[in-house]
Amino acid sequence: MTRLLVRDLAQVATPSPLSVAAPVRGRALREVTVLEEAYVLCAGGTIEAVGKMAELGPLDGDVEELDGRGLCALPGLVDCHTHPAWGGDRVGEFSLRAGGASYEELHAAGGGILSTVRATRALGEAGLRDRVERHAGWMLRHGTTTWEGKSGYGLDRETELASLRAVRVAGGSPTWLGAHSVPPEFDDADAYLDFALAEVLPGAAGLADAADVFLERGAFDAARARRYLAACRDAGLSLRLHGDQFTESGAIPLAIELAARSVDHLEATGPAGVRALAGSDVAAVLLPASALFLDRPMPPARELVDAGAAIALATDFNPGSAFTTSLPLVCSLACTQLHLAPEEALVAVTVNAAHVLGCAGDRGRIAPELRADLTLLDAPDWRYLAYHLGGDIVAAVVRDGALAFQR
Ligand code: NIG
Ligand code: FE
Repeated sequence: MTRLLVRDLAQVATPSPLSVAAPVRGRALREVTVLEEAYVLCAGGTIEAVGKMAELGPLDGDVEELDGRGLCALPGLVDCHTHPAWGGDRVGEFSLRAGGASYEELHAAGGGILSTVRATRALGEAGLRDRVERHAGWMLRHGTTTWEGKSGYGLDRETELASLRAVRVAGGSPTWLGAHSVPPEFDDADAYLDFALAEVLPGAAGLADAADVFLERGAFDAARARRYLAACRDAGLSLRLHGDQFTESGAIPLAIELAARSVDHLEATGPAGVRALAGSDVAAVLLPASALFLDRPMPPARELVDAGAAIALATDFNPGSAFTTSLPLVCSLACTQLHLAPEEALVAVTVNAAHVLGCAGDRGRIAPELRADLTLLDAPDWRYLAYHLGGDIVAAVVRDGALAFQR
C-alpha cells in the first residue's frame, strides 16, 4: 500500500471531532483544532495518523514524502452546490448586467438560464464531458476534493441524463435539477413537469444522488416544487431546494415538510424563515459569491448561526449568477460580508458541506480512518484561507492519499 507523509507543516487545522450524526451548529461551529509543526500520514486512500513532528517516530517500509514547510493542511474542501454541466457562456449577459440590466429581466426575456440551455443541448455528450472535466479541474486547483454537480441546463431527457453521467465520470456527486426552468417547447410548468417526471425521472433516479428545484417567481412555485420533489423522494433521491433567492415563496416550509437535506441561497429570508430553519434539520446552504456576482443582498448568515441553524457554504458555480469555483474566495466573503468567523467558514466548507452531501461519515475532517483528502495552503496560518482575498493560496491537493495537484 502506498504511504504518503506530508511533513513539517506549519499547521494542521481541522474541525474538532464531534458527533458525525448531524451537522455542526451554534458555538460548536467555532471548534477547530490546530496543531503547529505537524504531519499527516496517509496510507492508501485513508489517513493513518496526524500529529506533531516532534512525536513522529521512525516509519517502516516505503514512504513517499511531501515537504510541507510553509504550508498549512486543511481537510479537502467540499463544494456542496455547483452547476458544472453547461455549454457556451454568459459573458454578453454579464456586460449587460454591468450596464444595469437585471438578472430576472434577462431571464424573463428568454436569456439567462434558457440561453445556457440552448448552448448545452448543442454540446453533445462528449462535449459536455469535456466541459465538466474542465470545470472539475478548476475546482481541484482551488482546493476542492469533493463536489456536488447539478444538471438543469439540458431540460430534455438526453441532455439531463448526459449531464448527470458527466458529473459522475468527473468524480462529482450528481444532482438532478430537473426543475430549473421551463424549456421553450412546453407551454407551461405543469406540462413540463408531466414530461420530466414521466420521461426523465426514471433514468435520473438511477444516476443521481439528489434532486433539486428552483422555487422562485418566474421558475417553479411551491405547489409545483412539492409535486416534483415528492416524486423524486419516492424514487429514492435526497432533496435540495434553491429557495428565497429573490422572494420568500415558501421554500423553507416546503423543505421542512419534505425533510430536505438543504435549502440554498436564502438572500431574501426574513426572521420567520431564520427561526423555522433553526428549529429544523434542514441545512442552510449560503452562496455569497452568487449574491456578490448579482449585486444582491447577502443571506442572513449571522442570524442563522446565532439562532442555531446548521449552515454550509458553497460556490454555486454556474455561468450566470456565480462564475467562480473558489471556495477560498467564498470563505473570504463569509468573513467579510456574512460576518462569520474563519472557524465557522472552515466548518461550513468541510464537515457541514459533507453532511449536505451525505458523506460526513468519511470526510470533512483530518483524523485517522477518514479519507486522505487534504488541501495545502501556501500560508503560515490556516486562516489565510479567508484572509488572503482572491489569493493564489492553494499550493497542493492530496486526494485519496495521492498528490492530485501541485502548483
Ligand atoms: O443557483 N437560481 C437558479 N440557478 C442558478 C443560476 C443559474 C443561471 O443563472 O444559469 C443559481 O444561482
Ligand atoms: Fe445554484
